[in-house]
Amino acid sequence: MGFLVNQRMQAVKPSATIGITMRARELNARGIKVVSLAAGEPDFDTPEHIKEAAIRALREGKTKYMPSAGIPELREAIAAKLQRENGLQYSPQQIVVGCGAKHSLYNIFQVVLEPGDEVIIPSPYWVSYPELVTLAGGRPVIVPTEQENEFRLRPEQLAAAITPRTRAFILNSPSNPTGMGYDCNQQQSLAEVLREHPRIAIVSDEIYELLTYRGFRHVSFAAAAPDLYERTFTVNGFSKTFSMTGWRLGYVACPDRASAEAIQCLQEQSTTGTTSFAQYGALAALQGSVECVARMRAAFDERRAWLVEALRKIPGVSCLDPQGAFYVFPNISAWGIPSTRLCLRLLEEAHIAPVPGASFGADGHIRISFATSLEQLKEAVKRLRAWVGQHIGQR
Ligand SMILES: Cc1ncc(COP(=O)(O)O)c(C=O)c1O
Repeated sequence: MGFLVNQRMQAVKPSATIGITMRARELNARGIKVVSLAAGEPDFDTPEHIKEAAIRALREGKTKYMPSAGIPELREAIAAKLQRENGLQYSPQQIVVGCGAKHSLYNIFQVVLEPGDEVIIPSPYWVSYPELVTLAGGRPVIVPTEQENEFRLRPEQLAAAITPRTRAFILNSPSNPTGMGYDCNQQQSLAEVLREHPRIAIVSDEIYELLTYRGFRHVSFAAAAPDLYERTFTVNGFSKTFSMTGWRLGYVACPDRASAEAIQCLQEQSTTGTTSFAQYGALAALQGSVECVARMRAAFDERRAWLVEALRKIPGVSCLDPQGAFYVFPNISAWGIPSTRLCLRLLEEAHIAPVPGASFGADGHIRISFATSLEQLKEAVKRLRAWVGQHIGQR
């Protein structure tokens, strides 16, 4: 790497999901019709009433610097949402609006971690967690979970990973990439372990909370374990639920005023805050009808059911049925090809683009996003079947 890039940045990996999506786009631009299964964003447009609110804000001249932690109306609406939907009591001063949940997570680790602090991350994990921790000078401690346990961290695994340097624990339910979630009891049994270790902060990433299936009901960690509220950061955003990935808006609800003020200060000295008119769109999202979310969820649910069944029919595939998010994470270890090599071959030979499990800390799997039309999914599975028949089936 060039002499102008420091060691901290040299230790950070580029995003694999963004990388695959870009490569698929390149092939498409050359006239090769790739079916991308890599998307981490809904294929729906942002609902009209949200766009209208942002346009109105622009017209009304809401185009200047705004308070760094977010416009007061939005912080209030987020606090009201957390009370109404999650049973969590936050004052608007505890809420900090950032440029996406990813940015809010970045800020949390910058504010909480001392150099060398350990952060426990169950794998398979969302690709950015270890890198966000590394960027803050922390040390990611990856704890593998098993498909047999539906990729849920068991309390004894959590207990065994804790050391005197452990500073934080990341919980992501429902999970990217596995689609599995932790119910209230399962969260409470993790809380029992964490209760014994008062130095550990909990970072609960709940960005997929409303995209749930098969009767799974999302419960916020701080609601499942109210006595751990005072060290839990609840992270959420607008990207997935309201199909607003490009708006770059997310938030963190902080356990106390001091941590919220530290994050606000970090934003003051880095981004200044988030885009003025976009925040009015987010406000409309929270205040408007959730019917648009219900419609998108129903479409995801239909695709999920079709896709899981179709994948299970392919030789050598075992696939859990997701409880949330918009990904399936089939186990393809029986094919005997490392996931990164497999995905490159699938891209070049079958013109489909799933993401290698290795990027999520779980080789032997691929992640397939169903944030794409049923028609595209059907085409992708057809190509996958044909490829498997040709390259795997005969062995
Ligand atoms: C688990 C998880 N958390 C956070 C994010 C970040 O979302 P955003 O920064 O768009 O709000 C994503 C996006 O892929 C995600 O999958």
